[in-house]
Amino acid sequence: MVAAIEDQRIQLADLSFDPYISEEEISQRVAEMGQEINGWDLGPKPLLISVLNGSFIFAADLMRQLDFTAEIAFIQLNSYDGTRSKGEIVMEGAQLGVPVRNRDIIIIEDIVDSGLTMFYLVQELKKRLPASIRIVTLLHKPEMQEFPVTVDQIGFSIPSDFVVGYGLDYRGLGRNLKGLYKLAGQDLPA
Ligand code: IMP
Repeated sequence: MVAAIEDQRIQLADLSFDPYISEEEISQRVAEMGQEINGWDLGPKPLLISVLNGSFIFAADLMRQLDFTAEIAFIQLNSYDGTRSKGEIVMEGAQLGVPVRNRDIIIIEDIVDSGLTMFYLVQELKKRLPASIRIVTLLHKPEMQEFPVTVDQIGFSIPSDFVVGYGLDYRGLGRNLKGLYKLAGQDLPA
């Protein structure tokens, strides 16, 4: 039913996006991820670190699936400009403001693309001597990964399409979409 798909196509600024992963599929997968994390061997009061801006919705949903006492802190990192990585990380938010030493850390990321953001954050956190660092991401683009980071849990592995929704944006837009949408079938803009 091409017409039905066309009906749901959305426009954000100059680009069109088509439905990709539904709200129901996301919530089912997030519940599974939470159950799996509940089985991990973690010390007392692990620290979740949500990477802003993109992971705020995923982090809120995932944290509510956890059945152990955990803290959450937020860090703002930015490497993207429109649909492309700028190739460097800008730390925009305040420092974490919570102790990291000897704690099990679970980084909550929206999407691992080149891996630069996670590579940078893991290096920074290691300086603070945590007991362990795990990376949980809703989305992973394995074909795009260039930096050596180990991702411990992946919601969905996807091709290199640019996606928006469920916290992810294009030029600040689309974060409030309940499902995920991918760039409609044209090449990325130069
Ligand atoms: P990396 O540092 O190249 O792994 O990129 C990770 C960051 O780039 C994510 O936290 C997102 O903010 C952004 N990003 C990468 N791919 C996409 C996408 O398809 N849509 C929206 N943001 C993306």
